[in-house]
Amino acid sequence: MKTHNNFKNLAEIPIKYEWSFADKTIKHTAYITHGVYTYPAKFIPQLAAKIISEYSKENDIVIDPFMGSGTTVVEAMVNNRIGIGTDINEIAVLLAKVKSTPINCELLESEYSNLISGLQYKLNTCFTKELAIAKKHINLPDRVDYWFKPHIKDKLIIILHNILKVKNTDIKDFFLIIFAQILKSCSIWLQKSVKPTRDLTKKEIDPLAKFEWQAKKVLKKFNDFNSIISHQTNIEKYRTVQNSDARDLPCGARKATLIVTSPPYVTSYEYADLHQLPSLWFGFLEELAVFRKKFIGSSSRERNKIKLKSKIAENIVAELGSNKKSREVENYFADMLESFIEMKRVLKKGGKAAIVIGNTKLKGVEILNAEVFKEQFENIGFKTHDIIHREIPSKMLPSTRDSKNGKFTKTTNDKKSLVYPTEYILIMEKK
Ligand SMILES: C[S@@+](CC[C@H](N)C(=O)[O-])C[C@H]1O[C@@H](n2cnc3c(N)ncnc32)[C@H](O)[C@@H]1O
Repeated sequence: MKTHNNFKNLAEIPIKYEWSFADKTIKHTAYITHGVYTYPAKFIPQLAAKIISEYSKENDIVIDPFMGSGTTVVEAMVNNRIGIGTDINEIAVLLAKVKSTPINCELLESEYSNLISGLQYKLNTCFTKELAIAKKHINLPDRVDYWFKPHIKDKLIIILHNILKVKNTDIKDFFLIIFAQILKSCSIWLQKSVKPTRDLTKKEIDPLAKFEWQAKKVLKKFNDFNSIISHQTNIEKYRTVQNSDARDLPCGARKATLIVTSPPYVTSYEYADLHQLPSLWFGFLEELAVFRKKFIGSSSRERNKIKLKSKIAENIVAELGSNKKSREVENYFADMLESFIEMKRVLKKGGKAAIVIGNTKLKGVEILNAEVFKEQFENIGFKTHDIIHREIPSKMLPSTRDSKNGKFTKTTNDKKSLVYPTEYILIMEKK
């Protein structure tokens, strides 16, 4: 039988359909706390869970250095592993913490009722006085005015101020995530767009009504989560979520059994831009340009001059020519290599790094992320244990490849070129 070693071109590796989870609906993928917030490019939990159960055992340490919304950390806990996650984005860290913290549901519901009744009174009966008090505590950057109409912003200020007064930190953080989730709908950000585009004709919604709607939708999720992990009483023992760089993991050398992660992509979109609304409101963002620099894959990153340790990467950079894009791609591969070196430090001998990654195209050049990562891992002391080629099922129509730029597109009449996008799970073993 042909193994991954026999394929020069990874695209020829047969697709393993058991890794597609095509039968899973939103009900499955948003189970327990997974549906609390819409985080871009998140894993489906079933994918993380399958990797975790195949490549680790109970009580092992499982790490996600680019944890995003914390899917890996939650699934590690659900499967009785110890979950560790880092992300450079503070919103991600707050979200991962909320998703992985069991909250006493009776207390949560009573705090929720108190918050809502207090807010109804303040917004309807003594708005001006409350706004003046709230404004003394909440300082927002000017950029907030670019995204929010003044009267909506004022209501949001009162809501946020009252959330910040909640004493129980876990409950306060839960409300903050609900608040973060409603910001896009309350703003004039074009609702269907992930890019920062204004829609001056957007229909207004009432922030408190939206907050209540969103909170009610997810309150019950914590009951489900609590019942699954009720035996894990000392939560700090089972999970660590930290705001740090993927190249600085909160784990000792040779302690972890498994890494499960989907890294950022080079300039596919600016993660920083996607998170700017909650980051503005929570004071995580002073300067958009400074904020962007922290994200691997951003076009604003500082130059990283370490050697790429990949001939394939060097060829891609050369093919792109001498321009800004090629420097961004080179930088991206250098940053990723540093994160792989950190993964090597924390993994035990025989431990695995499972990297979920797809290939892309820039300026007509194939950006073979999977091939490059495999080569980089092999050059720093890993061997390839397996490569899983999986389809990314979409509930919408399958895509087609544009014959000129290779990008996935939905607009074609040519039924023969229909394909589902695919990606790889590289299973790299530390030698
Ligand atoms: C594809 S997303 C991960 C999504 C995640 N698998 C989930 O289920 O939500 C990639 C993440 O990498 C993070 N990231 C970018 N640069 C980083 C860095 N230097 N260190 C740590 N995380 C970083 C981004 O903030 C983003 O959350």
